[in-house]
Amino acid sequence: MILILDLGGKFSRFLGRRIRESKVYCEIVPYSYSIDKIKAKSPEGIIISGGEPNALLSIEKLDKEIYHLGIPILAIGYGAGIMTEVYGGSTVEPLEHNYAFENVNINPESSLFNGLEINMSLWLNKEYTFETIPEGFNPIAEFEDKIVAMENREKKIYGVMFHPEVETSAEGKSIIDNFLFKICNCNRNWTMEEFIEYSVEEIKKQVGDKKALCALSGGVDSSVAAVLVHKAIGDNLVCVFVDHGLLRKDEREQVEEVFRDYFQMNLITVDAKDRFLDKLKGITNPEQKRKIIGEEFIRVFEEEQKKLTDIHFLVQGTIYPDVIESGIDGKVAVKSHHNVGGLPEDMDFELIEPLRQLFKDEVREVGRLLGISEDIVSRQPFPGPGLGVRVLGEITEEKLEIVREADYIFRDEIKKAGLKDKIWQYFAALPNIKSVGVTHGERTYNYTVALRAVNSIDGMTAEWAKIPLEVLEKISTRIVNEVPHVNRVVYDITNKPPATIEWE
Ligand code: XMP
Repeated sequence: MILILDLGGKFSRFLGRRIRESKVYCEIVPYSYSIDKIKAKSPEGIIISGGEPNALLSIEKLDKEIYHLGIPILAIGYGAGIMTEVYGGSTVEPLEHNYAFENVNINPESSLFNGLEINMSLWLNKEYTFETIPEGFNPIAEFEDKIVAMENREKKIYGVMFHPEVETSAEGKSIIDNFLFKICNCNRNWTMEEFIEYSVEEIKKQVGDKKALCALSGGVDSSVAAVLVHKAIGDNLVCVFVDHGLLRKDEREQVEEVFRDYFQMNLITVDAKDRFLDKLKGITNPEQKRKIIGEEFIRVFEEEQKKLTDIHFLVQGTIYPDVIESGIDGKVAVKSHHNVGGLPEDMDFELIEPLRQLFKDEVREVGRLLGISEDIVSRQPFPGPGLGVRVLGEITEEKLEIVREADYIFRDEIKKAGLKDKIWQYFAALPNIKSVGVTHGERTYNYTVALRAVNSIDGMTAEWAKIPLEVLEKISTRIVNEVPHVNRVVYDITNKPPATIEWE
């Protein structure tokens, strides 16, 4: 395994995904991780990963002992800056964050660049380079006469100012692979087939012939977790799916078809629509809506659980990005959203979290290998409170029906246009607006539907998707023709920030 010491920023996650793609297991831990814990993991290699100098970090926390463990080290960006200082070298203080792909000349004799062209394009901050190289190190790459990589061949310690982990860089990927396979002698043994085999055995051991419960939402993570656990313990897994009436069109039927009919799982569907709508009557404040939906969900789930006997375990679809500790303050990154399906902590169960080690792409791959349909495996994110945060203002059945139908048309046309896997998230929302229109020569006063489509990596920031105008036109025409009480469709062209992805 490879241990990534994270100095903050998003680079570590890119790096983690790149390494896993090369079928090597890695973990991301904060830079302040203790030397004893590092040793206990016995990594084949250590990567110190960061972007530019970060005033929030207290660098003393990175134990200098790591340089004496005899384990190969690759220090990237700010990580390389810190490392060179430890050895008595220095960097140029960057004035700006000026990142771009730049032409870099490398020394092909270094194991890090094995098999690569002498000149290549790499992602770097051109303001941030090495100034002096410490004793024992040699420069191995230059950009415009400035040193951007160095090595201590004997100790297998490398410092690079460019970012080989950046998604679109093929050369970067080869550099990472060289570190993994030429320098650390890692094996390519992290495959999802083996993961499934191993997990099934582990779950069997953990659960024995006891029973487990799973709150199934139909989302990617809980679906994959449920099918994996079902493979291990069969009918001893009971899944509960709560229909809160805020689901998309046909969602409940699809869940029943996949899990009950196809996988033959023990599935309880709870029709709690009226309960939720009753509780939400007259409520317009978005946070209050979220709270009500979250609490009601827990109540319904607890009631179902009480009807069952002998349940010992609870299955949760927690995935690796939810548990990675951040480099900056070492706190566990918790989703800021009040998540429906977020069950109370005092439930008296042992947890089974079979996906805790996996990145989203890996969860999807496991899902495919388990035979879960592409419809579920490549599903876009859907918020726990569902359409409850897409109907602005008070939630009524009429408004839910409008947004459900409009959303269905939107998704249908996106699929037909071949854009389904090219947009991260897309949906219809119903702003609380009525406006004047004209249909068959008659004045109307009806609802406006808003379309939202964004591209994003993790939902923290997002760019509105540039859907071709012809496709938008088709969607809008279909919505006003097919969905009653709608006479206007608008497309949201705001990035996040300042807007959020959802309208509430
Ligand atoms: P925002 O609207 O905050 O959304 O830009 C970012 C991502 O989070 C989803 N989202 C939620 N997910 N419970 C959830 O489980 C929520 O209350 C919630 N609110 C937003 C949103 O769909 C997007 O993917």
